[in-house]
Amino acid sequence: MTLDFLKASIGADMASVDAVLRRSLSSEVVLIRQIAEYIVGSGGKRLRPALVLLAAKASGDPEGHRHTLAAVVEMIHTATLLHDDVVDESTQRRGRATANAAFGNAASVLVGDFLYSRAFQMMVSTGRMRVLEILSDATNVIAEGEVLQLMHAGDATLDEDGYVEVIRRKTAKLFEAAARLGAVLGETDPVREEALARYGMHLGSAFQIMDDVLDYTGDAGEIGKNLGDDLAEGKMTLPLIRALAVAGEADRTLIRHAIEGGGRLDDFAPVRAALDRSGALQYARERARGEARLAAEALSALPPGPDAGTLLQLATFSADRTH
Ligand code: IPE
Ligand code: IPE
Ligand code: MG
Ligand code: MG
Repeated sequence: MTLDFLKASIGADMASVDAVLRRSLSSEVVLIRQIAEYIVGSGGKRLRPALVLLAAKASGDPEGHRHTLAAVVEMIHTATLLHDDVVDESTQRRGRATANAAFGNAASVLVGDFLYSRAFQMMVSTGRMRVLEILSDATNVIAEGEVLQLMHAGDATLDEDGYVEVIRRKTAKLFEAAARLGAVLGETDPVREEALARYGMHLGSAFQIMDDVLDYTGDAGEIGKNLGDDLAEGKMTLPLIRALAVAGEADRTLIRHAIEGGGRLDDFAPVRAALDRSGALQYARERARGEARLAAEALSALPPGPDAGTLLQLATFSADRTH
């Protein structure tokens, strides 16, 4: 499944968001411009800004701050990626070398900070306290999620509940905030705001579960990242957690050693084979579909219309995607 349907429904809006994004990266410090443009210019699916736009339109926003806030959300996302790739020691992102591989860890961390703080300057420019509240809460929770995950590196005892706790924070929270911002811009009623927030939360959860599946099964060209990054840093994601619960003794030992040993490169093929044998990847895909269904259900609180329809398609995409 591709994201072409997004272009049809919000292509023009997204072009405006990209223009805001580019303008917002200006700095007199050359290295900041260079790295910010390197990562922003390398593309990405732009899902979170799309969510702001669609939720705003579905909520009847008169188009006040929609493009600014969509850009803000993408900048926060980009900042987390710059930091995340340093922490994960990843070398490929969006089909090219990660910023840390190309410019070094120090520069990546510092430019990530620049993007975060520029995003906050832009939020303040909207003059809306609710916006600041939503996004400061979200960034705080994301940081907690990343640290929580760090605490579980190499921890083969992490269970499904613990995993869900991590992904709700590190990924789903920003999707939730994006959808909620759209509702706030449209000044919709609290029931619909909560419904959109819930939609975003489930969408983001489905999205991250599939990201974790694709880390084992994806096509590197298509996902623009290396496979095996999660195992290489001893990250217990849903496929491994499931396999540890249902696989035979030999496969369980294999997986446990791979995680506890920090995941060497030559662990990948045997672990992948163990995942196949246990049906764990299928299970994780099914969980992603479950989250996508909950996202779709949340939408039933909205009046039907083209934007709600596109949000529904996005829910399907999140669980069926290959990129
Ligand atoms: C990557 O997000 C980080 C995760 C939460 C899995 P995306 O897959 O949305 O990254 P881009 O923006 O499209 O590159
Ligand atoms: C998502 O986790 C990272 C953030 C939410 C910042 P991953 O570590 O799985 O994301 P990728 O795979 O590097 O894109
Ligand atoms: Mg990562
Ligand atoms: Mg990943």
